Amino acid sequence: MCGIVGYVGNRPATKILVEGLARLEYRGYDSAGLAVAHRKALRTTRAVGRVDDLRAAIGDDESPGRTGIAHTRWATHGEPSERNAHPHTDASGRVAVVHNGILENADELRGKLAADGVVLRSDTDTEVLPHLIARALDGGSPSLEAAVQEALRVVEGTYGLVVLDARRPEELVVARNGSPIVLGLGDGEMFVASDVAALVRHTRQVVFLADGEIATLTAAGYEGSRLGPPTTVDVDDADYDLDGHADFLSKEIHEQPAALRRVLAGRLDARFATARLDGLRLDPRELRGIRRVTFLGCGSALYAGQIGAGLVEELARIPSDAEQASEFRYRNPLVDPETLYVAVSQSGETIDTLAAVEELQRKGARVVGVVNVIGSAIARQCGAGTFLHAGPEVSVASTKAFSSMVTSFALLALLLGRVRDLSSAHGSRLVEGLRRLPEAVETALRSADEVEAVAQRYAGARSMFYLGRVRGAAVAREGAQKLKEISYVHAEAYAAAELKHGPLALVDAEMPCVVVVPDDELLGKNISTIEQVKARGGPVIAVTNAELPDGLADAVIHVPRLEPELDPILLGVPLQLLAYHAARALGRDIDKPRNLAKSVTVE
Ligand code: F6R
Repeated sequence: MCGIVGYVGNRPATKILVEGLARLEYRGYDSAGLAVAHRKALRTTRAVGRVDDLRAAIGDDESPGRTGIAHTRWATHGEPSERNAHPHTDASGRVAVVHNGILENADELRGKLAADGVVLRSDTDTEVLPHLIARALDGGSPSLEAAVQEALRVVEGTYGLVVLDARRPEELVVARNGSPIVLGLGDGEMFVASDVAALVRHTRQVVFLADGEIATLTAAGYEGSRLGPPTTVDVDDADYDLDGHADFLSKEIHEQPAALRRVLAGRLDARFATARLDGLRLDPRELRGIRRVTFLGCGSALYAGQIGAGLVEELARIPSDAEQASEFRYRNPLVDPETLYVAVSQSGETIDTLAAVEELQRKGARVVGVVNVIGSAIARQCGAGTFLHAGPEVSVASTKAFSSMVTSFALLALLLGRVRDLSSAHGSRLVEGLRRLPEAVETALRSADEVEAVAQRYAGARSMFYLGRVRGAAVAREGAQKLKEISYVHAEAYAAAELKHGPLALVDAEMPCVVVVPDDELLGKNISTIEQVKARGGPVIAVTNAELPDGLADAVIHVPRLEPELDPILLGVPLQLLAYHAARALGRDIDKPRNLAKSVTVE
C-alpha cells in the first residue's frame, strides 16, 4: 500500500526513482511524485494518476541531482490529487518526506502547526512531518537524523518514511514503525524502498529495517543503531517482467504449476508417508500436543485458511477454524496454549494480520506464519513457519500465492494427521497426490479457452452467485472474491444448502450461478442444488471433476480428478480464469483494480 523509493549515489537519481516507482505501482496508483536535490534546492514533481503521468510531468526537465525520494500513493487521508501526492515539503521547500502508514494524531498536529502560523497545503497526515523536521533543524538539531527523531517523538501511528534535506544532498534518513522499509546496498550508491521489487534491478544485498529503527544513508553506506546484517534476497529483476503475458494476473495464474513445485520441494516424505515442515520448529511430541488449529488472515488468505481448516479437520481429526484477522485482533479472543495459530499472508505486511499475531504473542500463544515474502514483518514477527516460495506476486488479485497457501496447508494437515490417526496408506495416497498436483494444475489451465468463452457469455451479468458445499464452500468464496475485485461484477458466495434459506429469492434468468461440484460423497447434493437453480430459470456454470448428467448445467468446466482432499486447489483454477476473462471482456485494468492496492498496511 503506497510505494517508496529513495536513491543516494553518483548517478542522476530521477531515472532510477521513476523505474523503481514503476516496479512498485502495484502497491498504489492514485498519484505519484518525486523530489531530487540539486545545488542545495529540491526539484519536486507530482502528478495524479500513474507513474506514466509522473513521467509525462517530468518530461525533459530532469534534474541532474544524484539524491532523491519518490512515492506512488494509495490515498488514505485526502483525495487523490496533486496537492495530496507525496513528497510533501516544509514551507521553505527545504525538507521533503515520503511516507507510508497513517499518523493517528495528525489532526491535532496540523491544528498546532496552523496555530503557529504554518500554512498547510495538503489534506494529508504526512505533511506534518516535513514541517516538524524543518522546525527541529531550525531549532539546532545537530543532524537530519536527530531532527527526524525529534519529529517522530511527537507523532503517533505507523510509518515507513524517507527524508531528504536540500541542504544535505549527500544523505537520506529513513525510519520504520509498522510500514516496511528495506535498504539496498550498492557499490558507491545506496537505495531504499518499501519493497524489494524496486531494488533488485540494482542489488540483491538488502537490510530490512525493524520497527523503531532509523538510519542515515550516504553513497558510501548506511549507519544506524541496531540494524540487522545484510541478507541476499532470492528474487530476480526478471521476476517482475511480463514475460510475454498481457498482464501479471495471466502470468501468475499460469505460473501456478511452477509455484506449487516450489512449495512442495523437499517437503514430501514418501518413506514415512508424511510431510516435512521443519520451519515450524515443532517436534513430533509438540505436534501431537496441538489440540486445535486456527488460521488467521484477510481476504483471499482467509479463504485459503478456511480450506486449510477443512483439511486439518479431515486429515488430523482435530478442530480447526479460520478467522478474519481484522476481527480477531479487536475482539479479545480466548487464547489457548494448546492451539496452533497460523498467520497467513502473501505480502507478510497486512496490518490486521500482523496485529493479530502481536496480540496472540502478547497472550502467550504459539503462532507460526505461512508467508510468501521473505523478510516481511509477519514472517519476522512469527519467527517460525513456512515460506511459500511462490515468487513475487505483482497483480493485486492473489492467485499463485492462494493456491500455494492451500497446498502448504495440505502439507500441514498431512503432517498433523500422520502423528495421530492417519494411516500410512492414506498418507501415501496424499503424498502421491501432492506430487502430481502441479501437473494436474497444468492440465486444469488448459481449459483457459473454454473458460474464456463462458466468461464472455456471462460477463454482462449484474450479479452472480457462487455456490459450493464442504470442500467447495471456500472455493466458491474465493471465486466470488476474484470476480468482484477484478471485473467489478457483484458476486456473492453461499454454502449451497443456504440458498433456500433466503438467496434463492434472487435467482432468475439474470442471475448466473457458478456451482463448485467436486466428485465426492456430496455429488448428489450438488446436482440437486443445480436443479433448484435451474427450476428458477437461473443459468448454471458448473466447475467439476465429475461426470454430470447431460444438459444439467448451461456450461460445464472440467478439471482433472486427483485426490478428493486436493479438489479445492484444482476447482479454484477455472474460477481464477473466469474472473480474469470476465474482467478482460469488460475492459478492466486487470492488474490494478480500482480502489485496491496489493498489500494493506493501514487499517
Ligand atoms: C485478493 C487479495 C486480498 C489479499 C488480502 C490479504 O485477491 O489479494 O484479499 O488476499 O489483502 O493479503 P496478504 O495475503 O498479503 O496478507
